[in-house]
Amino acid sequence: MNLSRISFRGNFLLLSRVLQLSSSRTVQLKYSRCQLRGFQTTAKMPVDKTLFGVETDVVNLVKGAPGIRHLRLATDIIQKATQHLFSLDSVKDDSYVLQYGPRLGSTHARDSIAKFLSEGYGDEVKGDNIVITSGATNGLAMACTHFFKSGDVVFVEDPSYFIAINMLKQDMGMKVIPVPTTEEGIDIDTYEKLLEQHCPSGKVTDTRPFRAMLYMIPTYHNPRGYILPPESCKRLVALARKYDVLNFSEDVYNFLHFDVDTRAPPRFLTYDKPSDPDYKGHTISNCTISKILSPGLRLGWWETSPRIVNLIFKSNILWGAGCSNHYASEIVASAIDLGLQQSHIKTMNREYQQKIANVYALMKEQFPEGVKFKHLQGGYFFWIEMPENWNGTEVAKLALDKYKVQVLPGISCSAAGNYSNCLRMSIAYQDEDVLKEGAHRLAEALKHYKSKQ
Ligand SMILES: Cc1ncc(COP(=O)(O)O)c(C=O)c1O
Repeated sequence: MNLSRISFRGNFLLLSRVLQLSSSRTVQLKYSRCQLRGFQTTAKMPVDKTLFGVETDVVNLVKGAPGIRHLRLATDIIQKATQHLFSLDSVKDDSYVLQYGPRLGSTHARDSIAKFLSEGYGDEVKGDNIVITSGATNGLAMACTHFFKSGDVVFVEDPSYFIAINMLKQDMGMKVIPVPTTEEGIDIDTYEKLLEQHCPSGKVTDTRPFRAMLYMIPTYHNPRGYILPPESCKRLVALARKYDVLNFSEDVYNFLHFDVDTRAPPRFLTYDKPSDPDYKGHTISNCTISKILSPGLRLGWWETSPRIVNLIFKSNILWGAGCSNHYASEIVASAIDLGLQQSHIKTMNREYQQKIANVYALMKEQFPEGVKFKHLQGGYFFWIEMPENWNGTEVAKLALDKYKVQVLPGISCSAAGNYSNCLRMSIAYQDEDVLKEGAHRLAEALKHYKSKQ
């Protein structure tokens, strides 16, 4: 399939999804090797094997997923972890890992994940506060279906993770209110005004304890990359308590901090302190194994307060199905017990650090003047700000059609239709040589666009 032949109809946002749908139905299965000016990717992916479909000669810098190199390392880890798990007497005895799991997850999985988080953050995390999910997307859906209904208000950073915006609006039918951000994170003064304006009054109940939700990505934000400053986190906790808001903190990138010798930055949840006199527990830290081991495992977890744990325990979905992903949680717990998950993160971060330093240097050298971006300290994305009067959708189209590199227009990340002069570029999926080739092609597209201004 030639991406350049796909007409845009002004909606770049859904391109990847459209491709996936159309390709799974109509495109003949074929293997293609990605050829790039003397480079070859290792990918040979038929269309029905992953969400992303067939590889082409386009360098895709939209995909927010680990690349094949890291998945190969993950394969080894999962094999060892599985072998170890099934060698345990406690598993051999009754094969409990193949049974419906306890609703919140097994004690073994919850305790191992708590141990992993405690080490990673340098802060005690209790197994009792962990709820197993089948990934961050499922964790969000679980919070929406259990605590909210269609028409309820959700505040969303502007910009934000583009698929979550669509999911909240279209799948959940929630009323999405964009909240402006700066380079540092949420503009809290404006958020407070929006709360006064949009947060419904009326009673909350013990079973429906929240009037609204704040969906946010406070650490290595997707797409802007910021870490929300402690002062802002404290104010958001105070506002959540005042307005009965659920602070839904997407903590999916926290462990991808490229300074390998430090710990992960403190998560937002640390600011919702049980020792506070007005503490109730307004925060869910929504985590996933997708970015640090494998998206195919479909494993994630909430770290949250006892009251939220008790409420979700009553979910009929969990009663019917048991733990959202019991088997995968046991495999990952085993990888943690063996120390394999922890060392894998170190390996990944070391490689990301190197790759990003090199691509950043190339971007600095080749991107035209007036195009701004920051060095990444963690997470997946460069947020590229072009001059105000440039149109990111047009740049992305030019880059795809003429230079065969795919990036996401910033406007796709905005529930308010802002950031039309921005682009999001993922560093995660492609190996360094292909990533650099993609950045080079984007530089050519930017220069071409600039010459027409
Ligand atoms: C902020 C954010 N949340 C959730 C996800 C998806 O996570 P999962 O694979 O665990 O569903 C992503 C992936 O791109 C993301 O960036």
